[in-house]
Amino acid sequence: MSKRKKTVAILGSTGSVGRQSLKVIERFPDLFTIYGLTCYRNVDLLALQVKEHNPKLAVVADHHFLPKLKSQAQGTEVLSGMEGILELVSRPEVDLVINALVGSVGALPTIRAVENGKDVALANKESLVMAGEIIMPLAGRRRAKIIPVDSEHSAIHQCLRAGRKGEIKRIILTASGGPFWKNPGHLREGITKEEALTHPTWRMGEKITIDSATLMNKGLEVIEAHWLFSLPPSQIQVLIHPQSVVHSLVEFIDGSVIAQLAPPDMEIPIQYALSLPQRFPRVKPGLDLVQLGNLNFYPPPKKGFPCLNLAYKALEEGGTMPAVLNGANEVAVEAFLEGKIELPDIAKIVEGVMDLHQPSLHPDWEGIWEAHKWAQKEGRLIIEERAKG
Ligand SMILES: NC(=O)c1ccc[n+]([C@@H]2O[C@H](COP(=O)([O-])OP(=O)(O)OC[C@H]3O[C@@H](n4cnc5c(N)ncnc54)[C@H](OP(=O)(O)O)[C@@H]3O)[C@@H](O)[C@H]2O)c1
Repeated sequence: MSKRKKTVAILGSTGSVGRQSLKVIERFPDLFTIYGLTCYRNVDLLALQVKEHNPKLAVVADHHFLPKLKSQAQGTEVLSGMEGILELVSRPEVDLVINALVGSVGALPTIRAVENGKDVALANKESLVMAGEIIMPLAGRRRAKIIPVDSEHSAIHQCLRAGRKGEIKRIILTASGGPFWKNPGHLREGITKEEALTHPTWRMGEKITIDSATLMNKGLEVIEAHWLFSLPPSQIQVLIHPQSVVHSLVEFIDGSVIAQLAPPDMEIPIQYALSLPQRFPRVKPGLDLVQLGNLNFYPPPKKGFPCLNLAYKALEEGGTMPAVLNGANEVAVEAFLEGKIELPDIAKIVEGVMDLHQPSLHPDWEGIWEAHKWAQKEGRLIIEERAKG
């Protein structure tokens, strides 16, 4: 274990991954120190975290909540807005940024952190979905590591330690399938927000839980895997694995398949991202293989879940198309959570927006952000038209 404490900034420390990151870090006080924490509006929780971890800097993304944070986190420097988050990831004292923001808002902080040569433990998959073409080469030039936190990509990262890049035949991302993949009607109309938010194996934030129910989450992960592991879509496959115990697998050219198994607990990939290249001990129980029973694998359903194919299509088309897929999906998920559309409408809205888009190839960040905003605007127009009937 290294002697100097690693200084960590957690973006989105009040969210599901952010809170679990803090739990992991609390167990290794001799190895890590918290430099900065951020939230969007949940200032009450951020202020509690500030009291407990005593960071140098706390950031609330919504400017309106700055006075409240100032009054609750006295003695700590406080900032607000995206400028505050970008300032945090640029501070020379920060060694590692854990990006646990949800959505497109997470992409620019990843770019800025990497520009500043910081290692990034990346939970925010939207960063690579939107801007993988910029982030990965930039990370190479700045010698910044992009370490996956998503359990599937963490699993692939671990499996790849068993062979060389040229020896990979394919990688297989597993998906729990969410609550509906087995039902005959698949994503039927009338599914309530509460039903869609009941994930069978994982407890996560609302956005990713809805994405899991439509399989868009797996589509976003296919794009993320393409950039992280530099593999073409034809070498990235998806299997439904309802138990969420095998987190992903790599098949090598000699026929060997290496899998990573663990309890469905995000603390494991978070801890792996923090401990690399070593492993730290787990304090909670591990897998009981005898109790586990059967492990099942199925091909993704052919009907009823178009989001996975839409993501493969966006990846094949490239350029600004994955950002458009992601932007349209964000507004559609938001509209579903607000009760404005049905669950199956999400895929229709994303497809409708993608059909209208002519992707620009090799865009810079401004081009990506413009395409993202355009996709959100077009998505909202389609949602409004559907509401009018
Ligand atoms: N949850 C999981 O188990 C899991 C697993 C794998 C990957 N991931 C990925 O990890 C990321 C985070 O997921 P999550 O489930 O932890 O999300 P979450 O629980 O919704 O938390 C999101 C965090 O981002 C903050 N945030 C939200 N909107 C923001 C904005 N506009 N500007 C700045 N900050 C904002 C939230 O602050 P407030 O609390 O103030 O709203 C919160 O701290 C996602 O990309 C997800 O796909 C999650």
